[in-house]
Order: sequence, then C-alpha cells, then structure tokens
Amino acid sequence: MPDVLLPPNPPLTDGLITLRPFRADDAPAITAACQDPEIQRWVPIIPIPYAEADARRFILMTLQAWHDGSSYEFAIADATTDRFIGSIGVHLGPNPRRHAIGYLVAPEFRGRGVATRALKMATRWAFENIAIERLSLWTLPGNVRSQAVAEHAGFRFESIARNWETDRDERPLDSIIFSMTPEENADARAADEAWAAAGQAGSVPIAAVPRGLRAAGTRAAPFVEVAALADLTPGTMRRVTLADLDLLVAWTPNGIVVTDDRCPHMAAPLSVGSLAGCEVSCPLHEGRFDLVTGETVQFPTTGGLDADGAYHSPWSPSGALPKPEPPSKKLEARRLTRVNRLRYYTTRIRDGHLEAQLPILPE
Ligand code: FES
Repeated sequence: MPDVLLPPNPPLTDGLITLRPFRADDAPAITAACQDPEIQRWVPIIPIPYAEADARRFILMTLQAWHDGSSYEFAIADATTDRFIGSIGVHLGPNPRRHAIGYLVAPEFRGRGVATRALKMATRWAFENIAIERLSLWTLPGNVRSQAVAEHAGFRFESIARNWETDRDERPLDSIIFSMTPEENADARAADEAWAAAGQAGSVPIAAVPRGLRAAGTRAAPFVEVAALADLTPGTMRRVTLADLDLLVAWTPNGIVVTDDRCPHMAAPLSVGSLAGCEVSCPLHEGRFDLVTGETVQFPTTGGLDADGAYHSPWSPSGALPKPEPPSKKLEARRLTRVNRLRYYTTRIRDGHLEAQLPILPE
C-alpha cells in the first residue's frame, strides 16, 4: 500500500521559498517555464510544443497523485509573492528502495540556490513522512547544474546507468544516478543545523568545489590566507592578487567560492563584471557563468567552442543576427576559442580569515 498523505499545512517554507500543492492559476507560469530550451533538453518527458492545456493537465495529475498517494508534487513558490518558480516531486516506487525525486526551476530563478533549497526541504519532508530506505535522483549526463544541486543537497553520486531513460523518440539515454539513505539524510540535516548555528555565531559557509573542477596541482597544496572575513560581504565578489595569481572571491547563496579572476572565454577579469546569485557576468562578450557549478550559463556573443568541443554560433545582444565578417585569422581565432569550465581552489575559514589551497606561495 502506498503512503497517502495530505499536503503539509502550513506549507513547507524556509522563508525564501515555499513548497505547496499546485493550483489552477499556476498554469501560465508553468507554460512559460516549459518553453525554456534547457528544461526541454533535460526533462525529456515534457512535451514539445508545450501549451497551457499541457500545464492544466499536469496540475490535475499532481492533485490526483496526492489523492491516490502515487507521488507528491510540490510547486516551488516565492515565499513572499507565492508565484510559481519551479516544481519538485517525490515519486513512489513499488517498495521503500525505489522512491525517487525530481525537480526543475524556471530559467529566470536559476543561480539563486532555489533548487538546492527545495531539494533539501522536500527530501527531509519525504524521509520524515514516507517509509524510505533509499531515495534516488537521476539526471541526464550533460545536466551538470542539476548534478551540482543533488550534491549540494547531500545526495551521493552512484553511477552512470546506461540506457536508463528514453528521449521523446523512445531512443535510449544514459542517466547519472544519485541516491540518499536515511542515515545520509540525518547527516545532511545535522550539518545544515550546525551551519545555521555557526551562521548565528558569525561563521560563514563555504561552497563545495564542483566535482572534477579542483584547480590542477592543488590537492595537496598548503592553505594560504586569501582575505580577512571582515572584508567579504554576502552577495558580492572581489579580486585578490597573490604573487602572479589573480583570484576571484565570490560569496554566493551556496557559500564562498574561490576561482581564478579570469573569464574562461578570453581571460577578462570577472571581478569587473557583476554577480547575481550564483551567476557572474563577464564584462566582455556577455558570457555568464555559474560559480557553483563552473558551467557556462550564457555563451559569449563571439561564439566558439564549449568545454566539450561543440561549436556555438556568434549572436547579438539585440537579437539581430551578427554582422557577417569576411574570413580572417581573427574570425578563425574566435571560432576556435574554447570556453572551458572554471577551476576552483579548496577553501576554509581559520581565525577570521579565508584560506585556500593555492599552487604557489606568495613571497
Ligand atoms: S572574455 Fe568573458 S565573455 Fe569573452
């Protein structure tokens, strides 16, 4: 027998977002979100094209699922305006080892830690209210943003499951599988409570180094003082130069990150750009990068190669096609410039100072 639960009343909230059942008036916002190419790319069960009738059907399906206990779908809403900003659902399998969780966030709300907050809240609610021995989460291999969310919420990477999913044409797709056990849920919760207590005592969170993106040669490097905590402010970033190393220290909603102050496109100082949530905008060529995942959010206007070697065309901020240029070495150089992922330095707090494992020691 599945667990049949009522939606939490009052709704789950952390003060910034609320998890509540879907309502009929969410349909326009769901429809708008599902036009997003990233959502269409990474969530292959979403129909293309997606119309408001699809959103209304989805809302009815979620309400029916609460009723029959087959899945528990929440709208992620802004805690102040109650506006729909995403979706998260716990889907029940045939036994306590086969339940799974999935989520999406509308494009304009990404980079602010919304998915991580929602995943933590829904996961904790699920472990407290449903008999769960293992909660699974899977993403398509290229969806690194979603994988970072899973890891930030305390899920463990397990494996690549070959042919786990299918695309809209029923062709098999590999998936990356994450999972969480009740013990790991308790550990993640205890760690968050410790952070919250430390925060009240004036301590500071550090964002995890994204998997595979630690700067080369730093795993065993000594910790070096980077900045006094008193000089750092949540939601801001600054450049710190040590010897010939220019670092970007940014305080994101997921905590502090330390990376190179060098755009992964053509090396412009990112500290001159702007920080919005987890995203830094480069002052040149409109490139935008997620500091929590190390991924490119918006490709530079010049086009070029992405980290996996795929070519992206030039584009124009006005939406007009870029002016064609005659073939030249400059054009060829732009075409072959690769936008890599950011690289990170492992960071810690000691005696009121931010320290990082750096490949060099300052003189
Ligand atoms: S140098 Fe940053 S986007 Fe081109």
